[in-house]
Amino acid sequence: PLRKDFVVAGNSFVADEFTNITDRILSRIGRNLHLQKHHPLNLVHQRIVNYFYQTFLNSRRNPIFSVYDHLSPVVSVNQNFDSLLIPKDHVSRSKSDCYYVNKEYLLRAHMTAHQSELLSGGLNNFLMIGDVYRRDEIDRTHFPIFHQVDAVRLKSRDELFPNDESLKLFEDKGNTDNFGGQEKQSCHTLEAVKLMEHELKTTLEGLAKYLFGNVQYRWIDTYFPFTQPSWELEVFYNHEWLELLGCGIMRQPILTNSGVRDRIGWAFGIGLERVAMCLYKIPDIRLFWSQDSGFLSQFVTNDINTPITFKAVSQYPPCTNDISFWLPENVEYSSNDFYDLVRSEGGEIIEQVKLIDNFIHPKTKKISHCYRIVYRHMEKTLLQEEVTKVHKQIGSRAVSKLGVTLRQ
Ligand code: PHE
Repeated sequence: PLRKDFVVAGNSFVADEFTNITDRILSRIGRNLHLQKHHPLNLVHQRIVNYFYQTFLNSRRNPIFSVYDHLSPVVSVNQNFDSLLIPKDHVSRSKSDCYYVNKEYLLRAHMTAHQSELLSGGLNNFLMIGDVYRRDEIDRTHFPIFHQVDAVRLKSRDELFPNDESLKLFEDKGNTDNFGGQEKQSCHTLEAVKLMEHELKTTLEGLAKYLFGNVQYRWIDTYFPFTQPSWELEVFYNHEWLELLGCGIMRQPILTNSGVRDRIGWAFGIGLERVAMCLYKIPDIRLFWSQDSGFLSQFVTNDINTPITFKAVSQYPPCTNDISFWLPENVEYSSNDFYDLVRSEGGEIIEQVKLIDNFIHPKTKKISHCYRIVYRHMEKTLLQEEVTKVHKQIGSRAVSKLGVTLRQ
């Protein structure tokens, strides 16, 4: 029950009979999990971007893909559906499937919604990353908000056939508004489509291997209103077939409507939660929204390619205590020494240690650090008095071993 005037992602809208976005959904807009440092969705996002950066280089060895990861999730009906040639009566437009802001705007149901605007801007190779919204049942693997990476790659005739002047992208009598059978759109030449299909499939097989190692995979024919032909890539991982992504040769009217007349394109879209759940063995999609350090601290790594296996977070409550001290003046000090000390004093009940304040005294130039230590036991509720004992022990050890001076 929203008021008549309400604000979504910084813009105000007037509610109408289409409005079905809820306060709960509204409150999550802007969390941008894919941009949060060390979040598992951010790790997967970075790995996908890396793969494209290293796979597609220009002659000066610079990456050719540009990355759009700050696009607003509020899009027009035209962006989400019409521009992608999705029929007016298509089920995916229904109020029971989407979160409508009002009859003109909705929360994007896929990242593909931004294809046309970026094509109109003259881009040929780009990645779009963000949160997407679909009304769906809630279970272990479904949540009304998830994240996708979409990509587009366009090629001109000269890029696709550099060694043969006689080959063309388009059939002279090709008609752009008909599907022209299963195999290809009638406007495209068979040789152009086959070469594009080959590049698309090898690129995505490479991506699957980059993410999952040497996995078994298979291609399934499918249908999307905005690509023809279209495929799904499935990989065999953790003993089951996982539907990894959808892709295809872009329908030519999407390009012509955006002012692109001399290129053919491929596109794909991949869901990040599914990849992360598989890769890190995360059992429940709701965990991605956890602000619990027991979840987040497991993904802190300097190398995004480190294998990580998620361990269930304790159901018992955490107990958080801070410690502040002045750093020694004549001895070298590094936070990592303190982390090791905390681990050895606290053992298994240490869930996380984080530097939360770094202060330089304006006159004495002495440096003070404050660390937040989260204690949690896997099998029982910790009592504050047990924690205090360990916490005090850590303090006195830091004084004797690292030469710090405790503040109060
Ligand atoms: N938008 C599609 C989805 O959400 C994925 C897709 C993107 C398929 C681009 C083809 C091309 O399932």
